[in-house]
Amino acid sequence: MTLTPVLSRYWDEPRSWSLDTYERHDGYRGLKIALAMSPDGVIDIVKASGLRGRGGAGFPTGTKWSFIPQDSPESQGPGTPHYLVVNADESEPGTCKDMPLMLATPHALVEGVVIAAYAIRAHHAFIYVRGEVVPVLRRLQNAVAEAYEAGYLGRDILGSGYDLDVVVHAGAGAYICGEETALLDSLEGRRGQPRLRPPFPAVAGLYASPTVVNNVESIASVPPILVNGPDWFRSMGSEKSPGFTLYSLSGHVTSPGQYEAPLGISLRELLDYAGGIRAGHQLKFWTPGGSSTPIFTEEHLDVPLDYEGVAVAGSMLGTKALQIFDETTCVVRAVLRWTQFYAHESCGKCTPCREGTYWLVQVMERLEAGEGTPADLETLLDIADGIAGKSFCALGDAAASPITSSLKYFRGEYLAHFDHGGCPFDPARAALTSGAAAQ
Ligand SMILES: Cc1cc2nc3c(=O)[nH]c(=O)nc-3n(C[C@H](O)[C@H](O)[C@H](O)COP(=O)(O)O)c2cc1C
Ligand code: SF4
Repeated sequence: MTLTPVLSRYWDEPRSWSLDTYERHDGYRGLKIALAMSPDGVIDIVKASGLRGRGGAGFPTGTKWSFIPQDSPESQGPGTPHYLVVNADESEPGTCKDMPLMLATPHALVEGVVIAAYAIRAHHAFIYVRGEVVPVLRRLQNAVAEAYEAGYLGRDILGSGYDLDVVVHAGAGAYICGEETALLDSLEGRRGQPRLRPPFPAVAGLYASPTVVNNVESIASVPPILVNGPDWFRSMGSEKSPGFTLYSLSGHVTSPGQYEAPLGISLRELLDYAGGIRAGHQLKFWTPGGSSTPIFTEEHLDVPLDYEGVAVAGSMLGTKALQIFDETTCVVRAVLRWTQFYAHESCGKCTPCREGTYWLVQVMERLEAGEGTPADLETLLDIADGIAGKSFCALGDAAASPITSSLKYFRGEYLAHFDHGGCPFDPARAALTSGAAAQ
């Protein structure tokens, strides 16, 4: 498959983030097309394209929009507006596509926001950005200000009679605030913890009003669909997973970065574009979509990286964050670091995740130090089983994934930690043990 740069096609142009540059590249043409249509017509186009949410779960975007009550907010009385909320929290380990997108072409998101808000008949939209990433925050705020000045936001947008206000909100940097209902609580000024569903956000979301929450990449993919049409979008990818998407390669590859390609490309093909695994090394394991998705090995190099292909092979496409690890990486140490992350980010609302992630770290630390016993491996699986599918939100499932998948493929490496009395990848310890073996 060839690369298909759409969102990333002029990221390397000087001042790619400015309104001038965006307008030179068809910028805000999709909005003009949308505003000439009815809101329902826009939803139909996005539905026909088959665009699926890029935030991890792959839910069809047009269908999500159609869940919003389609009579106008005004007709429901002043107390029931509709809201669009963009999830720009991007905190999943390895995931690094939304931040570069907003840094390089913030107007792609702003234009998508106006189109999506128009389609769901919202007059207020919020972009919830992970607050630590200050340069992205500034660039977005500037883009929103530019869009107001140019008449793409505010009152009577482009003379259409449609009004929209956009607020760029800085979160305080909590992974759980990327979970859409925790995000809504945080946006309302509360501590970010997931809400019980139902009601779903489409019925009672922000301020108990009908709300669509979409990922940055999902929303930024909408303008090119309006300009080029749903058939063009469907000419890429597969029947059930159509279109282009950003794959983020990081770790032990020659040229890490964003590779925009049709859904269904394999890691083998992406590695060809990225110059392969770094010189003199071999692939050991990788994540298809961030640390929450069960790990893969070399045997999965040809798995089609779309929603169905990755699921059949036993993992999830997630955020398409392909973290690549070569043979110098200790799986046990990598899993320990991820587990510490989940324990730290667990919001504490439910017992399986709050207690389970704590105990996973205790056992993993012991194992990594070579002080565990083979029975600890069963304990790990038992704790993971007590978390996955039994927690209040998907963070619990995410925490269990690295544990179960690493034990499936690398049990021997866990056992090697007992034999070496510690990490066999620790150079000092390896020298000691090889010295002892030589004597
Ligand atoms: C712990 C956790 C963290 C999440 N973090 C993000 C995130 O940073 N960005 C995001 O778009 N979705 C994140 N999600 C998924 C959102 O809940 C939601 O499914 C997504 O924003 C929907 O957008 P989409 O339909 O456009 O994919 C997270 C989910 C969980 C459980
Ligand atoms: S699974 Fe974890 S993050 Fe989610 S609600 Fe329970 S404690 Fe909070």
